[in-house]
Amino acid sequence: MKEARNVSTPPAERKKVTITDIQAKKEKGRLITMLTAYDYPTGMLVDRAGIDIILVGDSLAMVVLGYENTVSVTMDEMLHHCRAVARGAKSCLLVGDMPFMSYQVSIPQAVENAGRFLKEGNMDVVKLEGGQERAEVVRAIVDAGIPVQGHIGLTPQTISKLGGFRVQGKSVDAGLNLLDDALALEEAGCFSIVLEGIPDRLAALITERLRIPTVGIGAGKGCDGQVLVLHDMLGMFDRFTPKFVKKYADFFGAGTTAIRQYMDEILEGSFPGPEHVYTMTDEVYAALRSAVAEREAK
Ligand code: KIV
Repeated sequence: MKEARNVSTPPAERKKVTITDIQAKKEKGRLITMLTAYDYPTGMLVDRAGIDIILVGDSLAMVVLGYENTVSVTMDEMLHHCRAVARGAKSCLLVGDMPFMSYQVSIPQAVENAGRFLKEGNMDVVKLEGGQERAEVVRAIVDAGIPVQGHIGLTPQTISKLGGFRVQGKSVDAGLNLLDDALALEEAGCFSIVLEGIPDRLAALITERLRIPTVGIGAGKGCDGQVLVLHDMLGMFDRFTPKFVKKYADFFGAGTTAIRQYMDEILEGSFPGPEHVYTMTDEVYAALRSAVAEREAK
């Protein structure tokens, strides 16, 4: 049974989290915490809270850029957000999510794009979606010295092929296939695998059979850790909320209340108050008024 680490008061100065730390957690039966972030303030927020891993997820396409799905986001858009997160988050392990078509076309292109996440995006590792069919690409990226996190199950970049956002691995054949995907990714050199949208007992069965840690999203408690999309758990995205999301805050609600109060205070004249203004001495003001009067008299 894994124990939850006490993370309520993370040290002010944390040591940088490495993939070795993440793998050691599985060995010691300690749970891994992971959350997405997309810019400087969210990177700083998540880092300061003491989370182990930040994923600059391609979910930013939907929750930050307002696209319909994750397919449209480009390498350049991802790298722009990665750099901002890296400026704010100094301790978390930083995972850059490879966007659709950045690793499917050819192995050399996949290795080059993975390298850009480290060189231009200041990420520590990359994540990509897919199982057995991606093992060769994973091996090539790992051989180039870039750690890879796999991602199987409900893989949003291929929702057209999966027939929509549907739970995966519900039959014996589909479950076996996902287990084979996980084993192939481990064999190819992934340091960890995200399991998304699969039955909890399948996720536990896969997790028990891997040496590398799994991080679940909609995959139950039997994984080695959990990840959520920051905007979902903070209540900053309301287009839809999957069953597996727990809302820990209502940022939209709190933000709307604050903005309405600001509007009201402008309209009723109570903002800005005396504490928000810069002043000048009476002498300077009197001199200024006479200078203006003199100028206007000419
Ligand atoms: O892009 C993302 O946020 C993800 C998580 C859902 C794991 O891939």
